[in-house]
Amino acid sequence: MLIRRIGPDLENAPARVAERGSVLGVPMHLLASTPSTNDEAKHAAKDGAPSGSTWVAEQQTAGRGRQGREWVSPRGENLLFSVLVRVTCPPSRLPPIALVAGLAVRDAVAIAAPEAAVMLKWPNDVLVDGKKVAGVLVEAITSGSRVQAVVIGVGINVHTRDFPDDIAERATSIALVSRAPPDRAVVLADALALLDRDLHVVVGRGLGLLRTRMDAADALRGRRVRSDTGDEGMAAGIDDDGRLL
Ligand code: BTN
Repeated sequence: MLIRRIGPDLENAPARVAERGSVLGVPMHLLASTPSTNDEAKHAAKDGAPSGSTWVAEQQTAGRGRQGREWVSPRGENLLFSVLVRVTCPPSRLPPIALVAGLAVRDAVAIAAPEAAVMLKWPNDVLVDGKKVAGVLVEAITSGSRVQAVVIGVGINVHTRDFPDDIAERATSIALVSRAPPDRAVVLADALALLDRDLHVVVGRGLGLLRTRMDAADALRGRRVRSDTGDEGMAAGIDDDGRLL
């Protein structure tokens, strides 16, 4: 019996990245299973891995989400990847970097599902019809008070159609919202190419130049929101430092 460790669609990913000429995604490490692609990237960063290195896994045994949550994804169905980007910047740049990563992922999902209204919910959940289709976890590697590199971890629900009961009401996938069957290598290469372009803009010049796209994708604008500290108000957009207004 042939046991495939990496799906044949994902094996095309390095070629799709090369077609786009993206710096992110090179080199690409395709893994059958790992605890967490973010951990792979962080360990490799210490060993001198170059900027752009990307780890893609068919399965994570300890996938993490934001705020200490788990990120669960059935083996072989979705996209689980982390990109190491060596950028030197103050920690204040991290929220804009996390936002722009969310925007790039939003745009890649929108390309794969053109009939869907794909939105970005601050800080970086990607939603369709209020349900989460992708999430981003940015972790910084610091030295003293400076960020030396970031690991941008992305989970995109691509093929999953049945979610566990506890998240079924809140989760969706590209396959569920698109007429055309999604191709994981294409979605991955699009996300990396968009991130490659947008990240340099934000690191160099802040969020300002992305304002129009950010506002158009903002899922919270005009909606009532409540902060962790219990304050309530109407969301009025995102400022240039990445804070929700
Ligand atoms: C969130 O929405 O809470 C962020 C989810 C991020 C999940 C991805 S999957 C690939 C990478 N490795 C991890 O352990 N987490 C991120």
